[in-house]
Amino acid sequence: MIDFILPLFGRFHPILVHLPIGILTFGIILVFLSKKGSIQYLDSIRLAFLLGGVTAVLSSISGFLQYQNEGFSWDTVQFHLIFGWATVFASFWLFHEINKSTSFPKNFKVKSAGLFGLMLITGHLGGNITHGEEYLIEVLPTEMQKILGYEIEPEKGLVLPEQGWEQLAYYDQVVQPIINQNCKSCHNPKNLKGELDLTSYEALMNGGEDGSILTGGNPDASPLYSKLILPKEDDEHMPPKDKKQPEKEAIELIKAWIELGGNITSKLGEANIKAETLEPFFHRVEKPFYPEVSVEPASLESLAQLKSEGFFAEPVSESSNWLMISCVNFQGFADTDWSKLNPIKNQIVYLDLTGTQVSDRILDSLQTLPNLTVLKLNQTGISGSTLETLNSNQYLKHLYINKTQVETDGIKILNNHPSLEKIFAFDTPISEAEIQENFSFYLEIGKYKLPALPTDTIEY
Ligand code: HEC
Repeated sequence: MIDFILPLFGRFHPILVHLPIGILTFGIILVFLSKKGSIQYLDSIRLAFLLGGVTAVLSSISGFLQYQNEGFSWDTVQFHLIFGWATVFASFWLFHEINKSTSFPKNFKVKSAGLFGLMLITGHLGGNITHGEEYLIEVLPTEMQKILGYEIEPEKGLVLPEQGWEQLAYYDQVVQPIINQNCKSCHNPKNLKGELDLTSYEALMNGGEDGSILTGGNPDASPLYSKLILPKEDDEHMPPKDKKQPEKEAIELIKAWIELGGNITSKLGEANIKAETLEPFFHRVEKPFYPEVSVEPASLESLAQLKSEGFFAEPVSESSNWLMISCVNFQGFADTDWSKLNPIKNQIVYLDLTGTQVSDRILDSLQTLPNLTVLKLNQTGISGSTLETLNSNQYLKHLYINKTQVETDGIKILNNHPSLEKIFAFDTPISEAEIQENFSFYLEIGKYKLPALPTDTIEY
């Protein structure tokens, strides 16, 4: 009937421990506040050390009961328990010394500081049991963690190459990176939560405190997988709910690996994995839009000169020396004005000559812009007969020839241009009917024809 009393008292441990901490700290502060020869606080200090000792005993007993009843292992609690009892004895000893004395005993401040140290260590070890050993370390800057020997740096996780992913070793190159990113911080030789080390296949196969965590061919019977799909609120859910969770695709990959047998020898390509599951892990290098070459910055004088002549000249970004030049306010710009752009010809990546007076002859000059990426020749007199010179602009990606008289033949010559991605040719004689082949670039002529939808022909 009264069986519950002891476990209940055990559960009061987390509350009780604060009594000795507060009371003893108060006594120790009074010791340090006492001037030499002053016995003003002596009575209070006596009481503090006595009460501190008594509440420390209660804490230690409740702690022991909690250890007995709540399944903590001796390894985890031993030092906390030892230091707890040391705190008890130190409090009573100091009380005993000061109790029979009418003045401060010798070295009492040093001894009190020692008691404070014991209490601090006890409290810290207790905190480690409830919050984990990395509780304080986790919030330190990475550099400091490294100095202390803890490297809980987040790992990059899984990245798949677009070519040859089928040949990847399923465990070493797919499962292990997922584990490193999501599980390793708590399951490594230094931090063996659940007595489980997940830093290698051998270690994984050794299992944790409840034994094996992997049953080849049966994901649901493998805690390595089954704990990941438990509801997040479940105490057994992994990783613990307040931690970063793996992507659902990563969990799918672990599942498929176990289904395949959970072997170290399997290849990723052997499992029947859906494309959507792999998709998030492919490594795609974003190519920058402008050329990956570096140029000197344009001189401030030449920029000032250009602006005074009516050009709009702006850097395309703060991190490069590329320039964007536009003639929106310089509609009189003609072939003969070209020399004005000469001082900055290496820096121009974006040139807008829309609405200017240029003719086909300008194309010879445009050839001399080594880094030109976007060219706008809208509403100009170019005929298209010399567009082939643009084949030597090896970085040209977007060409605008809206509202010009360029014909289909004019752009055919740009097929297989080394970099050209798009030509915008609204309101030109270019017609779809004349385009037989597929161009190497995307042609936008704006004569939208929507594809017929099945619903268009359904009669209700
Ligand atoms: C923040 C720490 C933390 C992270 C991250 C973490 N775990 Fe755990 N894990 C624990 C703790 C704590 C236990 C022990 C729980 C217990 O005994 O009730 C445990 C236990 C386990 C067990 C049971 C071991 C046994 O035999 O009892 C498995 C399996 C497991 N974790 C798998 C994982 C996997 C897989 C991941 C990554 C996807 C992961 N854990 C991430 C803290 C963590």
